[in-house]
Amino acid sequence: MRDQIVAGNWKMNKDLNQATALVEEIQSLMMNPVEADKVIVAPPYTYLAQTAAKAAEVPGLFVAGQNCHQEMSGAYTGEISATILKSLGVDYVILGHSERREYFGESNQLLALKVKAALGQDLIPIFCCGEPLSIREAGEQQKYVNQQLTESLFQLEADDLRRLVIAYEPIWAIGTGRTASAEQAQQMHASIRKHLASKYGAEVANHLPILYGGSCKPSNAKEIFAGEDVDGGLIGGASLNANDFIAIANSL
Ligand code: PGA
Repeated sequence: MRDQIVAGNWKMNKDLNQATALVEEIQSLMMNPVEADKVIVAPPYTYLAQTAAKAAEVPGLFVAGQNCHQEMSGAYTGEISATILKSLGVDYVILGHSERREYFGESNQLLALKVKAALGQDLIPIFCCGEPLSIREAGEQQKYVNQQLTESLFQLEADDLRRLVIAYEPIWAIGTGRTASAEQAQQMHASIRKHLASKYGAEVANHLPILYGGSCKPSNAKEIFAGEDVDGGLIGGASLNANDFIAIANSL
């Protein structure tokens, strides 16, 4: 069976006190076992070490970086490497979030390098893909997402690909309150799995968790997660509230 995962992307939100309070609330809510096999939080870099120390006290709670550079070290002012993330007790790293692609110009080719860098440091990439609205309206979404997967992941050996988590995040659903329907999510997740299987075989593709992201909240999570290829969620806004986030983790 695939891992069922709920990951919270805090983006550039929460100051130190608020971040500490949020992870402590999550910790205390997780005193009762949750339905998700793994709960992951991705705070801003500056709180990663504190958050990772707290997460280590809770079975099933893990920490992710929101990005990493493709080089391990060097003169890259303002950047952070996979090596540094690993040294903080981080286990996962979100790569290719649509906000990184759009505002920071990250291409599929650059992401291929970042994925390799993360795997090389034993970090599990949560690799994000997803189409903008214009592509969805043109009915080209599967082709578009397949190209993202091909250009960023298909250089990997099967044993490396097996370690990934994929997140499908239709850009038109991120932070907009507009969610993909459960049917749209399932269709795309099945298409992603099929595309990965075309290169790596069904056994490898069936092993990979594929998370849905985009305005996922307690009121819609159960329906979206019901899809057989939907293995959890990557949650933005609703992950900033511990009760909502854990309610989503219990919707699996
Ligand atoms: P959202 O963000 O849940 O606020 O739509 C999802 C994401 O960007 O990961």
